[in-house]
Amino acid sequence: MKASCPPSLPILFAIVLFSISCTNSEQVNLNRFFRCLSNHSSLFHPISETIYTPNNASFLSVLNSHIKNRRFQTSATPKPLTIIAAKHQSHVQATIVCAKRYDLETRIRSGGHDYEGLSYVSNTPFLVLDMFNLRAIDIDIASETAWVQAGATLGELYYRIAKKSKVHAFPAGVCPSLGTGGHFSGGGYGNLMRKFGLSVDNIIDAQIVTVNGSILDRKSMGEDVFWAIRGGGGASFGVILSWKIKLVRVPSMVTVFNVKRTLEQNATDVVYRWQQVADKLPEDLFIRLMPQVVNGSHEGKKTVQVSFIGHFLGKSKRLLPLMNERLPELRLQQNDCSEMPWIESTLFWANFPTGTPTDALLRPSKADVFFKSKSDYVKKPIPKTGLELIWKLLIQGVKVIMQWNPYGGRMSEISESETPFPHRAGNIFKIQYFVLWVEEGIEATNYYLKFSRTLYEAMTPYVSKSPREAFLNYRDLDIGIASSSNNRTILNSSARVYGCKYFKGNLDRLLRVKASIDPSNFFKNEQSIPPLPIQP
Ligand SMILES: Cc1cc2nc3c(=O)[nH]c(=O)nc-3n(C[C@H](O)[C@H](O)[C@H](O)COP(=O)(O)OP(=O)(O)OC[C@H]3O[C@@H](n4cnc5c(N)ncnc54)[C@H](O)[C@@H]3O)c2cc1C
Ligand SMILES: *[C@@H]1O[C@H](CO)[C@@H](O)[C@H](O)[C@H]1NC(C)=O
Ligand SMILES: *[C@@H]1O[C@H](CO)[C@@H](O)[C@H](O)[C@H]1NC(C)=O
Ligand SMILES: *[C@@H]1O[C@H](CO)[C@@H](O)[C@H](O)[C@H]1NC(C)=O
Ligand SMILES: *[C@@H]1O[C@H](CO)[C@@H](O)[C@H](O)[C@H]1NC(C)=O
Ligand SMILES: *[C@@H]1O[C@H](CO)[C@@H](O)[C@H](O)[C@H]1NC(C)=O
Ligand SMILES: *[C@@H]1O[C@H](CO)[C@@H](O)[C@H](O)[C@H]1NC(C)=O
Ligand SMILES: *[C@@H]1O[C@H](CO)[C@@H](O)[C@H](O)[C@H]1NC(C)=O
Repeated sequence: MKASCPPSLPILFAIVLFSISCTNSEQVNLNRFFRCLSNHSSLFHPISETIYTPNNASFLSVLNSHIKNRRFQTSATPKPLTIIAAKHQSHVQATIVCAKRYDLETRIRSGGHDYEGLSYVSNTPFLVLDMFNLRAIDIDIASETAWVQAGATLGELYYRIAKKSKVHAFPAGVCPSLGTGGHFSGGGYGNLMRKFGLSVDNIIDAQIVTVNGSILDRKSMGEDVFWAIRGGGGASFGVILSWKIKLVRVPSMVTVFNVKRTLEQNATDVVYRWQQVADKLPEDLFIRLMPQVVNGSHEGKKTVQVSFIGHFLGKSKRLLPLMNERLPELRLQQNDCSEMPWIESTLFWANFPTGTPTDALLRPSKADVFFKSKSDYVKKPIPKTGLELIWKLLIQGVKVIMQWNPYGGRMSEISESETPFPHRAGNIFKIQYFVLWVEEGIEATNYYLKFSRTLYEAMTPYVSKSPREAFLNYRDLDIGIASSSNNRTILNSSARVYGCKYFKGNLDRLLRVKASIDPSNFFKNEQSIPPLPIQP
């Protein structure tokens, strides 16, 4: 289906946060909700021990333990009325049935990494259905498949796979604390993407809880819904309980490297060359670029240093001649390369020091910094003048980490409509702009948000247009009209704006699926799929 995407609209920046005061009628509804839950409780799986209200001493620590961005961990951040940390699938069913009955807005949280905090923040009174207790992983090497519950993290999945096999892996993100509930439903990419595609390209079944409390699998939900939850964002269609994934085969040893070049070491030339080859290299090879500002060797003079971080499904003996032929400008040497089992490469990519035991993958992570992120797709190499402009902006600006992730390979072989994730052939790489800061307060926040928008504006000439594409897992409320308003006209047109950027021509099918599985729009957030025909 052809996308009918509107031209870029001016960005609306106002995001108003209302603090919640629990009025009497809310309290009444909440009490009814709790009574409804206890009505649904069973002897074997009592629901009371999953319920946290602000009266429970551990309420805040449970809430905060899965917040990864300090921007949404302030005293001004709206807090949920209650958290239901389900321990059994019946608790998920009861929560949905009762929240629907008493019209309580429900946010679903697995790993809590949502860039805009949508899994645990809302401007209307809400509850959080927390999935972190549902984290079982059941691996069957004989059939090369696994069932993974939504609350399991990627680190746990990688660790469990490696316990069973040294030559199996799963293509997903590099941050071990990501939850499979949100990460897979938003696409899920990592350094195996050029060989095996996204996480969603390797999912073969799923279990969801629908708005009426039924549990459906692939067969009973049907191919349309199964298609929608693999990249369309779980939060619009139901609660993902678990995924069935297809494991992939990797060699017993892989090679990684991290080679850094500053501007004085001709980084611009190497980056320019990388753009010519990054998406055309053999699919065993993935080279991510990370440009960032560092102190130069001359005192007080900042420069840009670009890290070329490589992942190769093979040994360095085969990698070195390949690099010499295809990207000689980087001058990769044998001693830049480390060979290791795949599981250790996941530690390398997560920045653990060499030799860290693999159970570090099981550690929880904290919200250390405030951040704002945005994404772009690049379809034509950025000219050297453009690269120089980017470096200048980075040097003049604030702390930004950029990630340039190459596409091509398997990504180009899968059609745009195979899953809701549409960014396939024709992309050289995707950029992530990650602006981070440590100063508290609204002034600092506004200052850094403004810089992230300035940088994004400046990049306009070099990135995709009509629509300016964006990656759903790098959620960005700036790209639609952020509004918690019940004004349907606004909702109607803004869903078209962000929907086209995230899904291109797949938006129309997502709208139809939504109307069939959740016509009353119970599952919603600021950027969900509405069950309506929206303005073209
Ligand atoms: C440090 C960091 C590193 C990252 N690295 C990568 C990366 O390498 N590759 C990549 O692709 N992405 C990456 N991301 C983005 C990440 O994939 C998304 O933020 C993803 O949505 C996180 O999933 P989650 O379950 O942890 O988050 P959550 O905040 O729990 O959920 C995200 C969204 O999914 C919904 N959701 C969560 N669980 C369910 C469920 N069970 N059923 C239905 N809906 C659900 C939530 O309501 C929310 O809308 C990174 C993010 C961070 C913060
Ligand atoms: C609880 O169950 C009883 C008996 O089935 C029913 O009468 C009552 O309405 C239910 N209460 C709630 C809050 O669901
Ligand atoms: C929270 O407090 C209530 C009331 O004391 C209790 O019934 C419930 O079990 C507590 N929740 C948890 C998770 O311990
Ligand atoms: C819930 O919805 C599913 C499909 O959407 C339907 O098959 C099922 O009968 C419904 N269950 C109830 C209790 O209404
Ligand atoms: C940078 O490029 C110049 C000109 O091509 C070359 O002479 C010089 O050796 C290069 N420097 C590095 C560190 O690669
Ligand atoms: C860079 O220089 C600044 C100012 O001289 C200093 O405060 C900062 O700590 C330096 N950063 C690093 C990473 O060395
Ligand atoms: C809703 O928004 C539209 C577009 O901004 C505006 O014209 C309309 O008056 C608004 N309606 C209400 C009820 O606020
Ligand atoms: C949204 O826009 C479409 C197309 O203009 C229209 O048919 C539909 O009624 C609108 N929906 C709402 C709820 O306004």
